[in-house]
Amino acid sequence: MKAIRFYEYGGPEVLKYEDVPKPEPGPGDVLVRVHAAGINPVDWKIRAGLAKGLIPVSFPAILGWDVSGVVEVNGPGASRFHPGDEVYSRPDLGRPGAYAEYIAVRESELALKPKTLDHVHAAAVPLTALTAWQALFDHGGLTAGHTILIHAAAGGVGSFAVQMAHWKGARVVGTASARNHDYLKELGCDEVIDYTTTRFEDVVHDVDMVLDTMSGETRARSWGELKKGGILVTILGPGPAPEEAASHGVRATLFLVGSNPQQLAEIGGLIDAGIIKVHLDAVLPLAEAARAHELSATEHARGKIVLKVV
Ligand SMILES: NC(=O)c1ccc[n+]([C@@H]2O[C@H](COP(=O)([O-])OP(=O)(O)OC[C@H]3O[C@@H](n4cnc5c(N)ncnc54)[C@H](OP(=O)(O)O)[C@@H]3O)[C@@H](O)[C@H]2O)c1
Repeated sequence: MKAIRFYEYGGPEVLKYEDVPKPEPGPGDVLVRVHAAGINPVDWKIRAGLAKGLIPVSFPAILGWDVSGVVEVNGPGASRFHPGDEVYSRPDLGRPGAYAEYIAVRESELALKPKTLDHVHAAAVPLTALTAWQALFDHGGLTAGHTILIHAAAGGVGSFAVQMAHWKGARVVGTASARNHDYLKELGCDEVIDYTTTRFEDVVHDVDMVLDTMSGETRARSWGELKKGGILVTILGPGPAPEEAASHGVRATLFLVGSNPQQLAEIGGLIDAGIIKVHLDAVLPLAEAARAHELSATEHARGKIVLKVV
């Protein structure tokens, strides 16, 4: 099969489009014919060697942890799905990824693809939508009547987080450059702050939750905008020291998105009901994975970048 592999850490040029053996589905696995693979910042961070401590890589490695495709065959003991089923997943980051014509995925990590989405749009969903869902509801306890400040609201995670928080009945404040303000209002932001001209801490106060997608200075400036007892949920390590949160009278947590097919099915239901929309910034053929990495690494994508495989 064709796949994108890399043999050493480096720039986008280390990604090679080549013929590689088709994976064999092991016990509990499903072999999926990949139709599309989503791009995430973690992909280029791993490629560049920036995530060595967190995610192990054995070379030659295949990236890609967002997949939408069709079940080809079940491995031994796998029975939840049938050949021909249209599925999507955030597969295990420790196994070969989805920049390939086929991927072996644990059946416990798969859900049926939302019916109203084609594969290219479906591949844009799993990792970032699960991150948003888990940040807001599992870790942040966001509920109706809360106010949430979402940094990088127009990005992959932010675009889903805005829509989910709005659906839940929260007041949503997002940060983005001016070109994304209309986009974010359409998604459900009540207020958008142009971080290039305005310090968010001058205009937003007493929020129940901050979704920190930026870390660094943005995180440091966010503490004071939380209500006492509020929570900062960050998706970028290293996480804040507990005493840092405590000194502001708030809570903080860092997490890595987990694969969760029940949540994927629930998110798929909201997509099929027209409540959550999927926005694509760019769609490129599998062979142009290096270009897709360059686009993602600008850190200014609106929504998602996807590789079309079939
Ligand atoms: N822990 C986890 O499990 C987990 C899961 C997913 C992602 N992550 C991490 O979370 C981060 C965000 O992921 P993502 O997929 O959403 O990234 P992304 O799609 O690349 O984010 C791009 C967005 O960031 C915005 N942005 C850039 N600089 C900004 C600033 N200073 N203030 C506000 N917005 C800014 C851009 O908006 P403008 O163009 O308007 O500037 C753009 O829309 C990444 O570092 C990723 O690795 C972690």
